[in-house]
Amino acid sequence: MSHPTPPAPQIIVLDAGGQYCHLIARKVREFHIYAEVRGCETPARQLQDARGMIISGGPSSVYEAGSPHVDPAIFELHTPALGICYGQQLMAHQLGGEVERGDKGEYGLAFFEIETPQQLLKGVHGRQQVWMSHRDVVRRAPPGFQILGRTATCAIAAMGDPERNLYAVQFHPEVAHTHPGKKILENFLFDICGCVRDWDPSRRIPIVEEQIRKASAGRKVFFFVSGGVDSTVAYTLCLRALDPDHVHGAYVDTGLMREGETEFVRDNFAKLGAKNIRVVGARQEFLAPLAAVTDPEQKREIIGEQFVAVQEGILQSGHYLDADWILGQGTIYPDTIESGGAAKADKIKTHHNRVEGIQRLIEAGRIVEPLSSFYKDEVRQIGRQLAIPEEMLERHPFPGPGLAIRCLCEQTAGAVRRTEEGFLLPVHSVGVQGDSRTYRPALALERMPDDEHLATELINRIQGVNRVVAAVGSHTPLGGMRSSPAFLSEARLDRLRHADAIVRSLSHESGFEASVWQFPVVLIPVGDAARSDSLVLRPVDSVDGMTARAVRMDSDLLDRMTRDLLAIEGVCAVFYDLTHKPPATIEWE
Ligand code: XMP
Repeated sequence: MSHPTPPAPQIIVLDAGGQYCHLIARKVREFHIYAEVRGCETPARQLQDARGMIISGGPSSVYEAGSPHVDPAIFELHTPALGICYGQQLMAHQLGGEVERGDKGEYGLAFFEIETPQQLLKGVHGRQQVWMSHRDVVRRAPPGFQILGRTATCAIAAMGDPERNLYAVQFHPEVAHTHPGKKILENFLFDICGCVRDWDPSRRIPIVEEQIRKASAGRKVFFFVSGGVDSTVAYTLCLRALDPDHVHGAYVDTGLMREGETEFVRDNFAKLGAKNIRVVGARQEFLAPLAAVTDPEQKREIIGEQFVAVQEGILQSGHYLDADWILGQGTIYPDTIESGGAAKADKIKTHHNRVEGIQRLIEAGRIVEPLSSFYKDEVRQIGRQLAIPEEMLERHPFPGPGLAIRCLCEQTAGAVRRTEEGFLLPVHSVGVQGDSRTYRPALALERMPDDEHLATELINRIQGVNRVVAAVGSHTPLGGMRSSPAFLSEARLDRLRHADAIVRSLSHESGFEASVWQFPVVLIPVGDAARSDSLVLRPVDSVDGMTARAVRMDSDLLDRMTRDLLAIEGVCAVFYDLTHKPPATIEWE
């Protein structure tokens, strides 16, 4: 497989599980230092060229059987190492200190008191706000280590052995809530590791282009484009690197897209100088097999299968599997990582299957992935340098299965039921609690509560619901509403598409769009005799979609949006989702 070769990493982040490691690597790169993520158990001999190592946080306990460990020989390399959270506990555990379960956990903000000011803490003084997330603690530091600071519940919140260049912190310097975090990372990277600035994504464009030319070796490149940021930037890089006549793309119109999407994609690619983008209409291929399906997992499976069939058909009919073609993909860095440390996550939702033709091309190495060493924000920087319109670069993420997962379906009718806390809506949506999938009804409040924490409290208290919504406008009182059998019909998809376009336009105009990470609009089959559906607004803030915070909006904007949405034919009420992820997910399904 052809990945443009990045420089040798100066910093290696050893992944002890979870998403923490990517945040650390991104923070290091923000200092213009190239960092990569490797499995925790990477042998020391593969790390000897790095200037420094950072052992990440993770969800395990060091004394549990099978928990991630590092090769003990890495501590003999004299390469500086920084342990963060689980990384600190692992250093203590593997170097002769002691780790045990703390009397109580420490989650969120804490105050760090410096005891021994030295190199790692240069320029950091007194009492500092830090962000903690741990239960286990280091009880005794390993021989040779000094205790550098403490918090009220954690006697060893930072430790170091300057002789061996080994340092560790229990808090998370990589998050913004840790006020001295940036300074601590800077001290480690420049003063302790001696790193030099070698990384600027936009200056890598000529190198990436040269590597695309090498990978294509005179062959033509074919892409499936989605209209998303990654495939657009990857395609544009190929257009610049190669003869534009030799770069082809296909966009599949599934009938499950947002209003104006196909035209938007067509126009944007034309502006970028693409001559060979084919729009493949496949509405019926997707809608016909979905017509009687209500189960969200089954919907996803059918859509996945149809994508495979349609893409396979395009590959065959365009002769893109022939020897004079290679496949281009917009894969970005986090998607390429195979980490030794991460535990296998429970399946929350089914994702797309692999197309056999694509699999064959990958196996034959006939693939080019120009963005495989970049994070999303770095892809945007490159896009800006390539003069790709901001409107395209700042797009919110949109799921592959499209509006199908935002258009809820039900087999049976049911009444909205009043309970002590609110109204139980007789429709189910997907959530994630304790790392497992749930599929439960939502609780609706009659109005927007003042208390921001009420949704979380209610879900913790009431068994059997995974979301809390507030009614923000309705043609009928909540108690008089009911659900009815509903499917993925053209009429319902059009209703949702129309609502989504109204929301997008108002939130764009008002600037609200820029303040949220994503803003799904969901259609649920709950209403009255005259209007069988309602809408749910789901604006969220997030970093990577793994967790998300429900975001409120200004009441003038909300009133205007609600009024326009209630004017749509067939729409009975508008709800506002107040639930974070977890316990809910971003999409309703
Ligand atoms: P959930 O609903 O799991 O969503 O909290 C997390 C993020 O993933 C997006 N999403 C998808 N993206 N294909 C995609 O490309 C999919 O099948 C898919 N399902 C969910 C979702 O929009 C959110 O940003």
